[in-house]
Amino acid sequence: MDRRNLVVSDVDGTLLGDDAALAELRRWYDERRDALTLVYSSGRFYHSVLESIRTTLLPEPAAVIGGVGTDVHFFGEEVPLRAWHDGFEGWDPPGVRAVLAAYRELVPQPEHLQSDYKLSYYGHDLSPAFIEHLQTQLQYRGYQVHVVYSSQRDLDVLPHGANKGTAAVFIAEQLGFRGEDVIVCGDSGNDLAMFEQPAVRGVVVANAHAELKALRSERVYHAARSYAGGVLEGLRHWCDQ
Ligand code: GLC
Ligand code: MG
Repeated sequence: MDRRNLVVSDVDGTLLGDDAALAELRRWYDERRDALTLVYSSGRFYHSVLESIRTTLLPEPAAVIGGVGTDVHFFGEEVPLRAWHDGFEGWDPPGVRAVLAAYRELVPQPEHLQSDYKLSYYGHDLSPAFIEHLQTQLQYRGYQVHVVYSSQRDLDVLPHGANKGTAAVFIAEQLGFRGEDVIVCGDSGNDLAMFEQPAVRGVVVANAHAELKALRSERVYHAARSYAGGVLEGLRHWCDQ
């Protein structure tokens, strides 16, 4: 392998889910640390991801993107990168919450899963038309937001311009990588934005939800294996050739 790559991977359902496969990926990665820089991107927040790193075989990453792209931390740094939040303009959580309170289909997630930059709800089996309706209603009232629906259950409302995709490009720039150096890995709807970034290559694990399985592009590799086994298969495909 003659070039350095940046791997931006989702955690739950992508790297985590099969401990034996994670051990296999870890052995492969430990021999390639110099050529592969690792960043985790999760719907969970930084400390929750740190806890997973502490208690599993997940290797230490260079950075952690938390809260569905709304927080970016260099690994080991308590304070998130200010420059990222500075880009979130016109974000008005109380206003958005008031609009969404009118929908009985949406139940706010517990407080510890909410932040200043991420409003999250549970909403089971919502239709694409309903999600579109929410987007239109919010837009109509002047709220520029990004609505993400994952796993037919989780609905996140994020500041305009903040998602896992834009955050992946931001951290790549911070770490000195170009789009074509980036490989993204995921399993559900909140990962979709990563695959939509120009030039990046992708790995979809076999256990992925329909929203990612539907992706068709020569830059997207659909693994036959699930969880970390699928990530390993995909990274081998993109890196060991
Ligand atoms: C994680 C978060 C949750 C979010 C979901 C999908 O489970 O904890 O708040 O809705 O990811 O992005
Ligand atoms: Mg996931």
